[in-house]
Amino acid sequence: MCGIVGYVGPRDCSDVLVSALTKLEYRGYDYAGIAVFENGKIEVAKSKGRLSDLVAKMEKEGKPKGHAGIGHTRWATHGEPSDVNSHPHSGRRVTIVHNGIIENYKDIKKFLIENDRTEFLSDTDTEVVAQLLDFYYDGNPIRCIRKVLHEIRGSFALGIVFADRPETVYAVRCESPLIVGQGPGEAFIASDVPAIIKYTKDYYLLEYGEIAVLKNGSVSFCDFHGRMVEKELKTADFDEDSAEKGGFEHFMIKEIHEQPTAVKTTITPRIEDGLPNLSECGITKETLKSFNNIFIVACGTAMHAGMVGKYVIEKLARVSVTVDIASEFRYRDPLLNTDDLVIIISQSGETADSKAVLNLVKEKGAKTLAIVNVKGSSIAREADMVIYTHAGPEIAVASTKAYMVQLSVMYLLAFEMAFAKGKITEEKCRRLTSELQKTPEVIEKAIGLSYNCQYISTKLITADSLLYIGRGLDYALSMEGSLKLKEISYIHSESYAAGELKHGTISLITEGMPVIAVATQTSLLEKTISNIKEVKARGAMTIVICDDEAEFDDEVADHIIRIPKISEMLMPMVATVPMQLLAYYTSVNKGNDVDKPRNLAKSVTVE
Ligand code: AGP
Repeated sequence: MCGIVGYVGPRDCSDVLVSALTKLEYRGYDYAGIAVFENGKIEVAKSKGRLSDLVAKMEKEGKPKGHAGIGHTRWATHGEPSDVNSHPHSGRRVTIVHNGIIENYKDIKKFLIENDRTEFLSDTDTEVVAQLLDFYYDGNPIRCIRKVLHEIRGSFALGIVFADRPETVYAVRCESPLIVGQGPGEAFIASDVPAIIKYTKDYYLLEYGEIAVLKNGSVSFCDFHGRMVEKELKTADFDEDSAEKGGFEHFMIKEIHEQPTAVKTTITPRIEDGLPNLSECGITKETLKSFNNIFIVACGTAMHAGMVGKYVIEKLARVSVTVDIASEFRYRDPLLNTDDLVIIISQSGETADSKAVLNLVKEKGAKTLAIVNVKGSSIAREADMVIYTHAGPEIAVASTKAYMVQLSVMYLLAFEMAFAKGKITEEKCRRLTSELQKTPEVIEKAIGLSYNCQYISTKLITADSLLYIGRGLDYALSMEGSLKLKEISYIHSESYAAGELKHGTISLITEGMPVIAVATQTSLLEKTISNIKEVKARGAMTIVICDDEAEFDDEVADHIIRIPKISEMLMPMVATVPMQLLAYYTSVNKGNDVDKPRNLAKSVTVE
């Protein structure tokens, strides 16, 4: 839930840290800070609020000047966002930044107080670690770090500087992701590659239980036992442009526009001779045939992609699919057998609850398949099989292109599984695959509907509350439409199965309340239209998203968004676009911070 950076090299360290933090602000934006060696002394600058508040503060009061240091942007977990709770935190000779949670910090604090260490300024778990490092520091940083690592519990990554080790940065990974960038004569640490892509594409992935030492522009590694570790240098497969807004006003709208390419890049390498082929992901036809039950477990948007997956896999492959929220699944003692498949979907590959589910499922002996966007992330590395989505870096907190590529993978998987199980013919599998290959073009056309969505969004900005309704795949899709809208527009929104409304929820309808009906499933159109009529008759302002051939009495809709038609089963990939655009423009019209909605962070690495 936060971003760590560090730098050692010839450049102005404060500038590098701020620039890298800008790319990590999506991970948390309650406060920010840096610590830099200036003339051999650690100088700290920190502030609550956005990174821009820290920059403004440094412009006024002066920035630390030096060539080595660490920095941090954070989503508050312990204590309210305030200057004093901002990272970096210091002991007498040690300053640290921290991503994650220290579970036993209260016990450690008690231990330190019992040993006359009472100078705590903040409410954070991080300061306790800084004090513990200082308590054990005997002039040997690695020995001290190792000792502390054996005492603290939790999931975390740390950036550390010792006052008597100028121009040197130490980094530790225990669960929370951390990479070490290497450029000529300079080295970096960061929670994510886009933070340093401006400076270098070469990086090492720090593994669980490893410590990195950045000194004189070079890097060395050891494990928690102090043994030296040799690591493979990796090269990022994207460049600075992909991590920039590229002329768009917000990352979210840029990412909406990137969807056709993202889908193409994700599906093309997995289609061979007109048929899906997931063998490069370690998934054979034999494996696909062997599963009796499938569980899809994820959080938020990724879980919504799983809902679409359920409909499609069950319909085509005739396998029972249960979709679960990761934070529920992990505590409900699920019934799992060794011939079950558990699919974990995650953009970041680091979501704490999804990661916990993966560990639980592995203990129970079921097979795991990860569908993940971030290469080398924990979930991707720990699952039995992995399908990488190729959306490129997704920066906006509200997920768009990651969801779209997750859908495309759900389809590929459903098609191949159905064919492998003999539930569809080769001809049908080819036809479906070929339809899927056409989706990038259709998505492109749907993005062209921006103007209409922009106009309709002006009708939503005064609403306190609204409903998204749909049936079948449209219901699965409306869950995502509703989440997207509420997370960035701050308008209360719920998604409902259209047929369920009359069992209670319809009592919420008042004059002018917006109801957005997703009606792309031709086979269910008549039924959905009846439900739209029911809410319209009670005063709702109805907005209907349907295909451009749908025939119904236009009077039921106050506003219509007609999208290009493709096969009914694939319509979610098209219909999701207007829902994203409605959310985006409503948020823009309300003057909200579209890319960094309040109280949220991109990567949820705490429970
Ligand atoms: C999406 O708009 C959300 N911000 C959020 O629901 C997100 O999808 C969820 O936190 C899961 O993240 P993951 O895909 O990285 O696991």
